[in-house]
Amino acid sequence: MRKRKLDTDPTSVAIHTQNSGVQIRCMIKEDLSTVTVIEEESFSTPWTRSTFLSLLKQPSACLFSAVDSNECIIGYAAVWFVGDEGELGDLAVDKRVRRNGVGSLLLHAVVEEGRKRALHRLFLEVRESNDGAQSLYSRHGFEIVGSRRNYYTNPVEDAVLMQFLLIR
Ligand SMILES: CC(C)(COP(=O)(O)OP(=O)(O)OC[C@H]1O[C@@H](n2cnc3c(N)ncnc32)[C@H](O)[C@@H]1OP(=O)(O)O)[C@@H](O)C(=O)NCCC(=O)NCCS
Repeated sequence: MRKRKLDTDPTSVAIHTQNSGVQIRCMIKEDLSTVTVIEEESFSTPWTRSTFLSLLKQPSACLFSAVDSNECIIGYAAVWFVGDEGELGDLAVDKRVRRNGVGSLLLHAVVEEGRKRALHRLFLEVRESNDGAQSLYSRHGFEIVGSRRNYYTNPVEDAVLMQFLLIR
């Protein structure tokens, strides 16, 4: 099981915040102990380990981990594919290293995967109040195309539907 070095090693935080040496690779089962901690810190209705495990087994899904130079997992993304569309189902970055470009690196990996699979579009739902995430997505070319009423629970909230067209 991989430890979260950030918890105990303040020098590693300094390295992380420079965002040096961050790599995006496919998620593996061994990442899940850290992934689920970040998930629980990031969402009020977090996915469980078994949700991640079942997605890891699906060829129609692709999960990425962001790994820093100390081999700590500092973020992840999950996308799945139906026909020529992809849905970004999950994206989170360790709260201690946000605003260092890690979310952008993960989003870039998702878009590149979409291009490889010749998708027509990527879409996602995001909480109406989640201005930070909406700003990240807009910056990367996603546009608002609709909303879903009462989509979220805990608290109940509408979702903003965003899409990125890969083929125009
Ligand atoms: C949303 C999230 C993944 C962004 O990750 P990140 O690594 O901080 O994102 P980046 O550093 O790549 O941000 C790139 C740009 O997006 C925008 N952005 C990202 N977070 C923002 C915030 N909290 N407020 C305003 N703008 C934000 C900014 O334009 C930022 O560029 P800047 O830092 O130069 O101003 C992260 O905040 C997170 O994990 N949040 C909790 C989980 C979540 O809400 N996930 C999305 C679910 S739909």
